Amino acid sequence: MELAQKDRPQRLGILLSGRGSNFLAIAESIRAGKLPGVEIAVVISNVADAPGLAAARELGLATAVFESKGRKRAEHDADVAACLRARGVDLVCLAGYMRLLSPEFVAAFPNRILNIHPSLLPAFPGLEAQEQAFAHGVKVAGCTVHFVDEELDHGAIIVQRAIEVLESDDAHSLARRILAEEHIAYSEAIARVASGDWEIRGRRYVKAGNKGTRE
Ligand code: GRF
Repeated sequence: MELAQKDRPQRLGILLSGRGSNFLAIAESIRAGKLPGVEIAVVISNVADAPGLAAARELGLATAVFESKGRKRAEHDADVAACLRARGVDLVCLAGYMRLLSPEFVAAFPNRILNIHPSLLPAFPGLEAQEQAFAHGVKVAGCTVHFVDEELDHGAIIVQRAIEVLESDDAHSLARRILAEEHIAYSEAIARVASGDWEIRGRRYVKAGNKGTRE
């Protein structure tokens, strides 16, 4: 799967609903020159007063709000997709976007939507993943950046980062330590995908041309 066109920047469309710390970590990676050839084209939210949106405005980035309340999912998503296209977005990054995407939206950006999830998938998909992991008593926790497909927290995995669960942890400290890993993992995944040097075999994300095992 060749995604990157090396002669022009890869444009990100960030979708968020809340705090926006993952978005800010991506923005900081770009500012620090750690994601060459990558730029943020637009930050979109379904929540008008999302702190992440305010932070995007402060950074002088283009923003848009598409409120979802009372609207059909497909109609709302069509508006978001039109905005992303108008802004020339190559890669859609879900960063705490608290909405399920319609199948039409997913199909409109095949292998071009990334999500970050605060667990080592396929363990603990869905809400409050860190609390689920802590309550389950896992010894290793972490985060996953993956492509988005039609199923929840399910697409091909691009990057995972693991941490040990400490005796001294509670659900909050664990979530905080996982979040620190998320901030590293998302930029790493964007750099890999933007390089274009990859393909998906079965459901495995691998380096392009890697002979590996046959699927
Ligand atoms: C993160 O834990 C992310 O993994 C999950 O939602 C949270 C968003 O946090 N999908 P933030 O808004 O990026 O700070």
